[in-house]
Amino acid sequence: MAFSSLLIPLVLSILSLPVVARALGRQPYELISQVLQAYSTARHRYMGSIFHLGSQKASKLLVIPVSLSTSIGLCLRVSTPDRDPYINAETSGGGFPGWLQRIEEIYRTPVYVKYTDSYASNVGAILAKAQITNGGPIALPQIENEYSDALNGVTFLNSQYFVDIEGQWRNAGIVILFLNNDIAPEGWFTPGNITGSVDIYGHDDYPIGFNCMVPSTWTVSSLLSNFRALHDLESPAIPFAIIENQGGSFGAWEGPGCGNCAARFNEEAERVSYKNDFSFGIAIMNMYMTYGGTNWGNLGFPGIYTSYDYGAVIAEDRTVSREKYSEAKLDANYIMAFGDAYLTAVPTESAVNGTFVNTDFLAVRPLKSGSIGF
Ligand SMILES: *[C@@H]1O[C@H](CO)[C@@H](O)[C@H](O)[C@H]1NC(C)=O
Ligand SMILES: *[C@@H]1O[C@H](CO)[C@@H](O)[C@H](O)[C@H]1NC(C)=O
Repeated sequence: MAFSSLLIPLVLSILSLPVVARALGRQPYELISQVLQAYSTARHRYMGSIFHLGSQKASKLLVIPVSLSTSIGLCLRVSTPDRDPYINAETSGGGFPGWLQRIEEIYRTPVYVKYTDSYASNVGAILAKAQITNGGPIALPQIENEYSDALNGVTFLNSQYFVDIEGQWRNAGIVILFLNNDIAPEGWFTPGNITGSVDIYGHDDYPIGFNCMVPSTWTVSSLLSNFRALHDLESPAIPFAIIENQGGSFGAWEGPGCGNCAARFNEEAERVSYKNDFSFGIAIMNMYMTYGGTNWGNLGFPGIYTSYDYGAVIAEDRTVSREKYSEAKLDANYIMAFGDAYLTAVPTESAVNGTFVNTDFLAVRPLKSGSIGF
């Protein structure tokens, strides 16, 4: 499908504080429905999910989340470990099942990718059937995660690897836009950058870090002010996207516990950090995490414990009583109150301290969409 005709409905459906439930794999299927309802109630429209190849059979992986999302009206972004199958540093083996780890072949070579052909075609067929062009919830399959560097002695950048992975998806009948997540706004695989470039480019942003020991120690200087400028330089023709936008922090062994992590990235952090993102005209905003859940069945990597609460807006036990849940919902309502005007709004001038406000401690960056200002 043509890029332009798909873009607008797609962005509309994902705008209002999309969601990450990279968590689905960390939750028994019987309970997924409750989590999806909590997303929907917070007016999130889109959920990113990661599926661990080692944890489930491919056929079971997707069917339930797909049908639940359809009934609730959520859009689902998938990052499955077909090809690669690296998904996430905080999962067991990064997503590699044991059989794949034993293959004596250099990771990312065409020969290596071949080993995942069967998985890719089976999962790909499920995804293809449920993609949004067929009326399902699946949008923006993610090609890689944080492939922005390589160890000494390993060739970087390996763009053939992206070509191979994308070929697997396309062979399985997936026709929709591809997404990639860079570890920082470095510009790898932006549209037109290199062979194998994706359609929608985005990156991580964890502005206040992960030290839950000191929940109240973070400064405004960690909030970057140049995201829009980088976006205009690297990928001006597509919506500005943050694919992992800090929503909490993982808890580590001998740490202070999830409560402190929720206190660190609390409603105040959301207020400051997300408004900073709105000032760049962010159009795809995906939190990591909105719901983290539990590392069932040793799904976590050894550096973390069973809970993957993450101090997220939805707590591990699926309750929504943290104030940050309400703040996230407020943000979503604010954006959606303007229909699609926000989606086409662009910054009209740079942020200067003291302009539009009576204090030099604040910088305001105006956004405009026609006659509507933000
Ligand atoms: C592709 O992106 C990388 C990272 O930003 C950059 O170093 C490189 O020059 C880009 N290549 C082209 C052809 O634009
Ligand atoms: C704007 O105010 C913040 C908070 O006081 C300060 O850290 C920053 O340096 C100021 N920026 C400029 C350009 O004056």
